[in-house]
Amino acid sequence: MGGRIPASFIDELVNRVDVVDLISSRVPLKKAGKDFQACCPFHDEKTPSFTVSPEKQFYHCFGCGAHGTAIGFLMEYDNLSFVEAVEELAVRERLEIPRESGGQSGPDYRPLYETLEQAADYYQQQLRRHPQAAKVVDYLRHRGLSGAIAADYGIGFAPPGWTNLLDRPNWGRKGTEHLKTCGMLSEHEDGRKYDRFRDRIMFPIRNRRGRVIGFGGRLLGDGKPKYLNSPETPLFHKGQELYGLYEALHSTRNPDRLLVVEGYMDVVALAQFEIRNTVATLGTATTRPHLDRLFRAAPEILFCFDGDRAGRAAAWKALETTLPVMRDGREACFLFLPDGEDPDTMVRKQGPQAFQRLMDEAVPLSTFLFDRLREQVDMQSLAGKARLSELAAPLLGTLPSGVLRQMMFKQLETIVGVEIPHPSRPIAASPAPKRRPRTGAFLGTMPPVRRAIALLVSNPGLAATESLPAGWETLPLPGIPILKELLENLHSEPNLTTVALLERWRHREEGKYLGQLTAFLLPLQQEGQLRELRDTLSSLARQALMNEWENLMQKAAAEGLSTEDKKRLLQLSEEKMKRDNQENDG
Ligand code: UTP
Ligand code: MN
Repeated sequence: MGGRIPASFIDELVNRVDVVDLISSRVPLKKAGKDFQACCPFHDEKTPSFTVSPEKQFYHCFGCGAHGTAIGFLMEYDNLSFVEAVEELAVRERLEIPRESGGQSGPDYRPLYETLEQAADYYQQQLRRHPQAAKVVDYLRHRGLSGAIAADYGIGFAPPGWTNLLDRPNWGRKGTEHLKTCGMLSEHEDGRKYDRFRDRIMFPIRNRRGRVIGFGGRLLGDGKPKYLNSPETPLFHKGQELYGLYEALHSTRNPDRLLVVEGYMDVVALAQFEIRNTVATLGTATTRPHLDRLFRAAPEILFCFDGDRAGRAAAWKALETTLPVMRDGREACFLFLPDGEDPDTMVRKQGPQAFQRLMDEAVPLSTFLFDRLREQVDMQSLAGKARLSELAAPLLGTLPSGVLRQMMFKQLETIVGVEIPHPSRPIAASPAPKRRPRTGAFLGTMPPVRRAIALLVSNPGLAATESLPAGWETLPLPGIPILKELLENLHSEPNLTTVALLERWRHREEGKYLGQLTAFLLPLQQEGQLRELRDTLSSLARQALMNEWENLMQKAAAEGLSTEDKKRLLQLSEEKMKRDNQENDG
């Protein structure tokens, strides 16, 4: 895509998203006064100290100190980069992300997307127009696919021949280069290029936004390799993509569950029978990025595997990858098909109702785990039970904290018949800071510069007030430059909200510090906050004045004062007197 995301767009995004909505789609929240609470998803705890403030649009854990905006939450919880989190929220809010041209932009992928789109169009055309199209359509019909489903999934045909795609007149030199970068061409040893996909049925692989990022191509008959996938390219990363996810979410925006199968044909065959919530990994094991994507799209994942040995081994691997992401509210089940069947053959033989029943009978992750372990030990002997506990404990130890983790350790205890210590989860991020008081009193104990910053971040509107006390800017204290910059920010953009402000500072070291201050500050009444800010700035200004005055007095004793110095000293004395009088009056 390229181009920086403009700050104004981030402002709009964080002001539009409701952080309570967002978090409650992943962590069940309970109302607690003005705020919402839950057991913290970022550390192990039994009583809720994770708080989400609708007013501040900010979350904060009083236990481990985790805190942030909606964007920050997605980065932490869904394991996303900043840009991915922004994209995720933009999709949620149905906003297009504008990109600034120039500047320190990343690579511009638009030409690559266009190239793949054109290739996909070309293959689809060939499925209608090529002299051999009838043969291909017959094959697809024979496999039970209708034209409508083929169209939904953008299925096409790469005709036989070495340079059909390459020789299209529209590419030019640039275009050919793009084709190469997108993985659509192969190269002879002498450097001559040719089409990577030839005489294959083409399945376009789309990303979350529906853009084609790669292809899978199936031979019409037997031969090797049966499926050819796009290689790794700047747009396509096999270990992260899921075939059919875009189409699944396009047909149901918020599915209750997603079915994970192995093959392209499985996805389209099930779709043909109106089972549209299916995705396929692209010939790889299920990875952590896959799971992150899946659980972002649906709370329940159903893995479908062959009942044979390979299928069961693959299922066990999937289970191991899934355990660490099984936060409360998520579910994972396993479905095993009879030997020799795949979802495609199964649904065509037995029909969608039978397949639906199979899905409903899928075994929960916990059942699968304990059943498999039971098979490996002698449950009649004490030693066997001890062995089971030895095998299970490290697996259960990878579960995130929460109800499922507690229940599974309980279940293990019931099976084994003795109590098992639950190792506690290491906290992923920084070590938990000490519990801090959550009362407004905390504000009073802050050093003044920090207090002023905290007040401004929590209530940026305060900066709009006319004539805040000045004169403190020269103080040689660590937070003064931040305070100055903050006020400048807010003067030039008076409508920034707390979260928008925090996002502006995200990429700077000081941003973390601002986040912490936001987290710890109780919202006071607007009136009280303004007075607090004025008093704080004014006492800082007085401190600055005293500093300068003392410096000059010292200089006078040591080396004498210049005319300039004397003038300044006079000014300061008057200023000091004025203040003393004001204080005496007040
Ligand atoms: P299968 O061999 O089970 O294919 O591979 P399938 O989906 O049942 O295909 P049909 O029914 O014969 O048409 C499952 C998946 O493994 C990957 C593909 O993603 C395929 O869908 N695969 C398989 C490859 O990448 N290359 C291959 O040569 C074979
Ligand atoms: Mn198959």
